[in-house]
Amino acid sequence: MRVSLDASDEPQLSAGAAGADRVRALATVALDAMAQTAAARTGPIPAGGLPAVAAALDGIELLPHQGVGEAAALDELTRILTAGSVDPAHPWCAAHLHGPTLAVAAAADLVGSVLNPSMDSWDQAPVASALERELTATLARLCFPERDQPDAVVTSGGTESNLLGLLLAREHGRTRLVCGRNAHHSVARAAWLLGLPAPRLIDTDAGRMRADLLDPTGDEVVVATAGTTDTGAVDPLPEIAAAARRAGAWLHVDAAYGGAALFSDRLAPRLAGLEHADSVAVDLHKFGWQPIAAGILATRNPITALDVRADYLNAGDDTEAGIPDLLGRSIRTSRRPDCLKIAVTLRALGRRGLAMLVERCCALAQEVAREARRHPGLHLWGEPTLSTVLVRPVRGDVAAVRRRLLEDGTAVVGRATIDGQVWLKLTLLNPRATIDDYRGLLDLVASTT
Ligand SMILES: Cc1ncc(COP(=O)(O)O)c(C=O)c1O
Repeated sequence: MRVSLDASDEPQLSAGAAGADRVRALATVALDAMAQTAAARTGPIPAGGLPAVAAALDGIELLPHQGVGEAAALDELTRILTAGSVDPAHPWCAAHLHGPTLAVAAAADLVGSVLNPSMDSWDQAPVASALERELTATLARLCFPERDQPDAVVTSGGTESNLLGLLLAREHGRTRLVCGRNAHHSVARAAWLLGLPAPRLIDTDAGRMRADLLDPTGDEVVVATAGTTDTGAVDPLPEIAAAARRAGAWLHVDAAYGGAALFSDRLAPRLAGLEHADSVAVDLHKFGWQPIAAGILATRNPITALDVRADYLNAGDDTEAGIPDLLGRSIRTSRRPDCLKIAVTLRALGRRGLAMLVERCCALAQEVAREARRHPGLHLWGEPTLSTVLVRPVRGDVAAVRRRLLEDGTAVVGRATIDGQVWLKLTLLNPRATIDDYRGLLDLVASTT
């Protein structure tokens, strides 16, 4: 059905059949604007750096007295966003754990925006809360296949998952942290937020925590990383788990990046030992092709420490009458149904489909590393464990090379400082990219001054 989108129209709601027509018409405006603008783009990031990008918003008054109308505003800002964003699907956009999204997940996210269930009480999310339960149970079993009652909650990402993991540890009497120097900054920040002392830091070797230096105590929570931000390395989980178990310490594994390897029978052994953790963070918006946010905190035992009473959401008599109590599933109150896009993706692709995508990215990283090793103008940091490759040009200022590529709009590569030396980081998350996409980038990195 054709729906008129006059500027004078009353704003329409998105619900119901009429709402669906309206959303479809507006989505067409947005999709057309994205497609047309994207076709005119030449690189993974606009050239010209900050001033050029910020200038795109010149003259756009965000709260005019008289609105410009839905279609006009959507078209205008979609074009600006499309032109001025990085394109995480471009193979040369490889700086961060920030990947392209699957079309099916993006479409599912639209459903969530229209239906708008809020995950803090059953009467706002009757079936979505049941779906979330199924999803978290499924992902909990992926992390803890041998456990009877593993649990999981949906989070906004690794930062919240790490905070929650450490909160659970604290509630179980572990009040001091120990982690590798390679741990994500959100771990130390979580300690600060929770009023715990700054973490005891363990040295690393080849990007991995040295388990022989760990020597934990029973009041500590050990944080290991499965897929570090800088190198994608996986800490020696079996040794760390054994040391934690001997001491009676809590073990939290930050698998925000590496957790996706669990979908693959071939790659899962790289995370061996993770199943001994007490809590595990996994982010499907990093390696899992989900729109942000799609975080999970999985635990080996049921989560009860977050339980809280708020009469308007989970009155005791309602709970006794059988109405599910959702407040203990998060530290947030209102919450988007992020479970929906993840559930649709898992069901659509299945474990095999997801494994294939993860395996492709990891195989690509091996190929890129092989090319880099052979390249006379490059040093390779080491073998990739997951899908991160670190290189540095033999000549030239590494950080300046990165900024030059950014400024020119040619490539978005990351940086990692290891043992005092700066490396360029390629985090390969595009399962459709091939080695042919990267030969030119390696040459460019080697020759840029
Ligand atoms: C290993 C690791 N843990 C946690 C995080 C934080 O994740 P988020 O940005 O989703 O909060 C990151 C972010 O890159 C990460 O690399």
